[in-house]
Amino acid sequence: MIKDVVIREYRPEQDVPAVAVLWESTLGATYPVSSRVLYSRIGYRPGVETGDGWVAERSGRVVGFILADHDQTAQGVSYGMVSTILVHPDCQRQGIGTRLYRQVEQRLCAMGCTEVHATAGWFRFWSGVPADLPDAVAFFQRQGFGLETETHDLIAPLDGPGRLPDPVNLPAGFTFGSLQAQDLGALFAFQQMEFAGWVPSMLKILAEGDGANILVLKQDVTVVGSIQTYTPSSKWRGPNVVWERLLGECLGGYGCVGVARAFRGQGLGLALCVGAMHHIARNGGTCCLIDWTNLLEFYKKTGAVDWRCYKRGSKRLVKE
Ligand SMILES: CC(C)(COP(=O)(O)OP(=O)(O)OC[C@H]1O[C@@H](n2cnc3c(N)ncnc32)[C@H](O)[C@@H]1OP(=O)(O)O)[C@@H](O)C(=O)NCCC(=O)NCCS
Repeated sequence: MIKDVVIREYRPEQDVPAVAVLWESTLGATYPVSSRVLYSRIGYRPGVETGDGWVAERSGRVVGFILADHDQTAQGVSYGMVSTILVHPDCQRQGIGTRLYRQVEQRLCAMGCTEVHATAGWFRFWSGVPADLPDAVAFFQRQGFGLETETHDLIAPLDGPGRLPDPVNLPAGFTFGSLQAQDLGALFAFQQMEFAGWVPSMLKILAEGDGANILVLKQDVTVVGSIQTYTPSSKWRGPNVVWERLLGECLGGYGCVGVARAFRGQGLGLALCVGAMHHIARNGGTCCLIDWTNLLEFYKKTGAVDWRCYKRGSKRLVKE
């Protein structure tokens, strides 16, 4: 009975509590989210514009929700990202998800986006479409997404005897620690030169006042590596700390691990990861999540284990 379903624009100031209830009914058993994670991603945050989100209502009750983001590549190409879509279990397979998705696709096309990705962006929940949600995989495929690649989240428990690897000794002349104000310029130059795609998440961490969670590897005064970490008290709840209801409130995480090209192959990357694990543990973390990676063998050297697999892919958009 799709005719009794009304699709209308999402209005965060009134809809967030109803979407929270919908989330619990739809994904509460598989991917429950805490209020602080949900509200900071779909509620009041910069970047949610009218038309980014849509809700489906049946008899005045919110039974469906979609939220998308959009951005531009460094070359100025606009693209969209579906950060979440939910349809109440009683209302699935009635075309509601398709109607919600079409609203987003039409808007992205009108904005000049040439591509849309399935779950991406800094406000995403998942690193891709979870392989253990086959309904979602089938849905995105039906909408024309080629979910051809896979990516993984790994976890490493940090508490308990022997769980935290011993710190790695750095070669002479190298130092490692929390970002200091005087190193900000050198870090920015390093990121721009070596890992430009990670600059926005670095700026987000800095803007929220969590700069001490950016750990920097230096040779003398030159930044040659960095790693972005999250602790249980991080103000910016980045993608690594989304699943605190599944993995515990003391969840931390790290990502964007990078060593300058000229310094690779000397064990410095592993030293950054182990250093990050110690930083997270010192700040109360008992588990650490490493998101969106295919370097499973590398991270397993730190004691991390594979946690979730995701399907990744996109759909090309053609303006009608
Ligand atoms: C994914 C989801 C939003 C789909 O919503 P929906 O309203 O049921 O989707 P639609 O009715 O528009 O389905 C459109 C097509 O997608 C495919 N599809 C959707 N659900 C499917 C399922 N359970 N099994 C197989 N194919 C499915 C079918 O091709 C379907 O067309 P058909 O019914 O004519 O065969 C819904 O299943 C859901 O809320 N799941 C839980 C939340 C979730 O996983 N969100 C995504 C996280 S990335």
